[in-house]
Amino acid sequence: MSETFEPVIGLIGGSGVYDIDGLTDKEWKTIDTPWGAPSDALLHGRLDGVRCVFLPRHGRGHPIPPSRLNYRANIAALKIAGVTDIVSLSAVGSLREDLSPGTFVIIDQFIDRSFAREKSFFDTGCVAHVAMADPLCPRIGDILDSTARELALSVVRGGTYLVMEGPQFSTRAESELYRSWGCAVIGMTNMPEAKLAREAELCYATVAMVTDYDCWHDDHDSVTVDAVVKVMTANAANARALVRAVIPRLGTPRGPCPAGCDRALDHAIITSPDA
Ligand code: ADE
Repeated sequence: MSETFEPVIGLIGGSGVYDIDGLTDKEWKTIDTPWGAPSDALLHGRLDGVRCVFLPRHGRGHPIPPSRLNYRANIAALKIAGVTDIVSLSAVGSLREDLSPGTFVIIDQFIDRSFAREKSFFDTGCVAHVAMADPLCPRIGDILDSTARELALSVVRGGTYLVMEGPQFSTRAESELYRSWGCAVIGMTNMPEAKLAREAELCYATVAMVTDYDCWHDDHDSVTVDAVVKVMTANAANARALVRAVIPRLGTPRGPCPAGCDRALDHAIITSPDA
């Protein structure tokens, strides 16, 4: 039988979530990594005894745009801090009629259309190709989904997140293209975050919080920052409640990840150990 351990929960906060309700023993700690500095110091603490580490993705006050985030440093900082499981919170636009603003989508796929970002820890010296067929940890996704349902939040399990480079929002033609691809939501930040989490052998799941209908919907104005921030502020209370309830569940002692996120490198490194 496999041994169990106490998970350490990492929370990457997007717009609207800058803290964890109920966190005790709080301490902001600055950290550096071999890939440079993360977006901000990490907030360490405990929630019902579970060790947690919070990182504001864009830094406190939101000074860093999506293309300038040091995704490698952010994931490396969480890994160095001992995190085993990451919940990523992200504001997104909806590409489907049924996903109205305020809906939380526990996504299960990505299409990565970002291009101006460092995407791998394995870019020199050692080459690795991790599997990304199932890019999100289904174990964490299921727990997020059931917890959100118990809280009576508007939640949908499954859907594809289109990651665009930004910082400008999409053209109408792009928005329609992504809809024709069957995408559920669109945002600017979850890739390469998810790829790097996989390379770091961390379980990773996303709560995509819908703030707008992007620009494709005839009955809704095209997305603006004002609209995103307004709905985000309304979503934040639900996001905080979800985080408050889910961390103790994610933090119960467990064995290895059933989906193998924590063993992603076992068959991924192609460089010879003698090279
Ligand atoms: N974040 C929130 N809404 C968005 C949208 N419509 N497009 C890209 N990123 C977003």
